[in-house]
Amino acid sequence: MSPSTAGGIPPARIAAVFRSESAEYSRRHPRSLDRTANGIAGYYDGVPMHWMRDWPMPFPFVVEEAHGSLLRDIDGNEYADFCLGDTGSMFGHSPPAVAEAIERQATRGLTYMLPTEDAIAVGRLLAERFGLPHWQVATTATDANRFALRVARAATGRPKILVFNGCYHGTVDETFVRLVDGRAAVRPGLLGQVADLTQLARVVEFNDLPALAAALSHRDVACVITEPVMTNSCMVLPEPGFHAGLRRLTHETGTLLLIDETHTISTGPGGYTRACGLEPDLFVVGKPIAGGVAASVWGFTDDVAHRLDEARAATPAGHSGMGTTLSANALALAAMRATLERVMTPEAYAHMERLAGQLAAGLQASVSKYGLPWHVVRVGARVEFICAPGPLRNGTEAEAAHAPALERAMHLVLLNRGCLIAPFHNMMLVSPVTHETQAERLVAAFDAAAALLAND
Ligand SMILES: Cc1ncc(COP(=O)(O)O)c(C=O)c1O
Repeated sequence: MSPSTAGGIPPARIAAVFRSESAEYSRRHPRSLDRTANGIAGYYDGVPMHWMRDWPMPFPFVVEEAHGSLLRDIDGNEYADFCLGDTGSMFGHSPPAVAEAIERQATRGLTYMLPTEDAIAVGRLLAERFGLPHWQVATTATDANRFALRVARAATGRPKILVFNGCYHGTVDETFVRLVDGRAAVRPGLLGQVADLTQLARVVEFNDLPALAAALSHRDVACVITEPVMTNSCMVLPEPGFHAGLRRLTHETGTLLLIDETHTISTGPGGYTRACGLEPDLFVVGKPIAGGVAASVWGFTDDVAHRLDEARAATPAGHSGMGTTLSANALALAAMRATLERVMTPEAYAHMERLAGQLAAGLQASVSKYGLPWHVVRVGARVEFICAPGPLRNGTEAEAAHAPALERAMHLVLLNRGCLIAPFHNMMLVSPVTHETQAERLVAAFDAAAALLAND
């Protein structure tokens, strides 16, 4: 790829498409423009959460409502939603079983800091589904990862964690490191960071078992935390033998293994872990686990539980550093029970898998048709197009594969044709209620975008 192009497309053409699609977007959103273009009053940065500024459109549209796989804005535009709240609504917006459970619980008290019958059912459902015996409920996947890492340190008595370059596990301080010239460095952009995170973490490339072996040989790493597939840059799949090697090396060095399935739960009812027979010591899943209500879960083995018991017995009573007041509240557990029992079913996943396969094939056909140096990658219901050749092997390659200006333009073209994809790394999710016609619409919109960008 020449430095004057991005994803094989001349920058001037990308800029022209972005300009004309931005104008079209503004024309279609007069009411949203009025509400958000100058920032919503009362909010720092003009939005209730600053990530809402990270979308590629000129200003965010205001949502009127969403049902299943369809989202409508206050300007009356409708979108086939493939972003699905960046995975929080992976099973569709307000799945009926979850809405019913919320409605039932809504008048019976929302949070008591005591268990309910739903909590009792959820404990059993988690153990059955994910195959680990011990669970805790938290409010976000970030929290779940932080707590699980604390347990790993308590259980091993070791100070460090190991992450793969380019990872993301939520706003967990010590995961914000990356490789620069072969050494750990703090990731740019982190605000208010006072501790030197490189003292707390080691970082190596995904799919690099020799580097992993060297990093773990110091025997000061409590835990490797990883997604089974890296989804948070451009998607990176594990090479054959990588997971087996990772497990072997962690066992050999007495290091725990935490698998974060927050995104890869797209793979199947038990995540990538169950589908591929992985054997983590600790396991985290958040986002869609309660059908869109804020909740996450983290689980661990008998061995970790035993070591945790010993660590607790040796520690004076006080604050554990784990748990938050609203975690495992009655509303979240009612929603989680409904999700586990009635939404995250094998039938739902069969539909997601089939349609996501069709979607990926359709996108790849356009890439080939226009001779673009891009590729399409998928893990279960999660599909991404990457504006660079693939497959990508690690975080460094994934970072280099980003073509931000081109991705922004693509995003806007799709949006103006009624398809909403995630604002980050071209992610598209297929829900159990996504229609075949919606997937076809996205394939057609993608083809239109590729044609606009590829042709003179
Ligand atoms: C793999 C992974 N883990 C954890 C998180 C954190 O989730 P949350 O922002 O809900 O805390 C994310 C968020 O994108 C994620 O991708």
